[in-house]
Amino acid sequence: MAVREILKMGDPRLLRVAEPVRDFNTPELDALIADMFDTMHHANGAGLAAPQIGVNLQLVIYGFKQNERYPDAPSVPETVLINPVLTALSERKEDDFEGCLSVPGLRASVPRFTHLRYEGVDQHNKPISRDVTGFHARVVQHEVDHLLGILYPMRIEDFSKFGYTEVMFPDMDPNDDD
Ligand code: NI
Repeated sequence: MAVREILKMGDPRLLRVAEPVRDFNTPELDALIADMFDTMHHANGAGLAAPQIGVNLQLVIYGFKQNERYPDAPSVPETVLINPVLTALSERKEDDFEGCLSVPGLRASVPRFTHLRYEGVDQHNKPISRDVTGFHARVVQHEVDHLLGILYPMRIEDFSKFGYTEVMFPDMDPNDDD
């Protein structure tokens, strides 16, 4: 297991459409997932997508009990989601601030669907289907966007709500500025 380098915005590997995972229960997949959790926890992230460490597969992880980067967010179960499909269950979207480990030091308010169903499989190819709302729905939309080559700044509608974390959220720990 190892903490891997997180690619930053501008790297063309973050703009690719990821390939489906086809082989399960392999040492390679298990090692990749372990590295992703090490990397996410090391960065205090709420989620991480495989393309962020340069692996072009449809694999995201997320979840936390309490997250320093999103102190007001309710807990999200720790999840490995592979080959995901999202379905909005309402047309309604809401704006809220998010950041990204690939876009360090910045935050923006981004519209996301408030209520969605996500389906896919876990690391053992076991089906996952959940209907979620709020921050859980936001995290999943953000992470799955990484599999489509989309970073959150590409979703911003109001650029007056895009700025440096240390300026907009001065009370936040500077070590969690991304
Ligand atoms: Ni991100």
